Amino acid sequence: MTTLVAVAGSLRQGSFNQMLLKAALEVAPKDVKIDVASIKGIPVYDGDIESAGIPEAVKTLKEKIAAADGLLLVTPEYNHSMPGSLKNAIDWCSRPPADAPRVFRGKPVALMGATPGPGGTRLSQAAWLPVLRCLNMTLWTGRLLFIANATKAFDAQGRLVDETAKEFLPKFMQEFAEFARKK
Ligand code: FNR
Repeated sequence: MTTLVAVAGSLRQGSFNQMLLKAALEVAPKDVKIDVASIKGIPVYDGDIESAGIPEAVKTLKEKIAAADGLLLVTPEYNHSMPGSLKNAIDWCSRPPADAPRVFRGKPVALMGATPGPGGTRLSQAAWLPVLRCLNMTLWTGRLLFIANATKAFDAQGRLVDETAKEFLPKFMQEFAEFARKK
């Protein structure tokens, strides 16, 4: 069985990126197990905290990534880049450096994101590229998924209602899972 770990970079109630992740879970192939991980409780990176011991919330996320065949990052866009909170979580998981290859090296990774704005998180997704390269991850570029105008793409119950995205998302999930399985 293929296992993926998925992380959304927003914790708020009513997060469009959480809605997108939920929609992705619903259409993922049945033989793919998706472990949803959270960045909740991860402190701002501080070398002194690290010296005292890697926080439990970081250990949990890190081990989920290490155990999975692939990582799905569902990223909001803040000021034309990724949210610091999600970057911070990934930074923590790359510590200590000697352990980073076990967690990240060669690991298939895919990006998607949602925003009420017109850009669909393009700039955020682009901002992730040097980070993923630094971690020696294997970026899946088979499909690009940008949800723009998210207030219209999701309904009041948080369901994805944009027809184009609804058609696209199952293919994205199936093809990324296939890529992760073969790696
Ligand atoms: C934003 N937002 C935003 N959106 C965008 O498309 N491009 C951007 O550069 C920014 N910049 C930005 C900065 C900061 C600090 C915040 C808080 C927000 C809007 C953002 O896309 C919106 O708040 C989304 O709803 C955030 O994702 P969630 O929480 O809905 O998943």
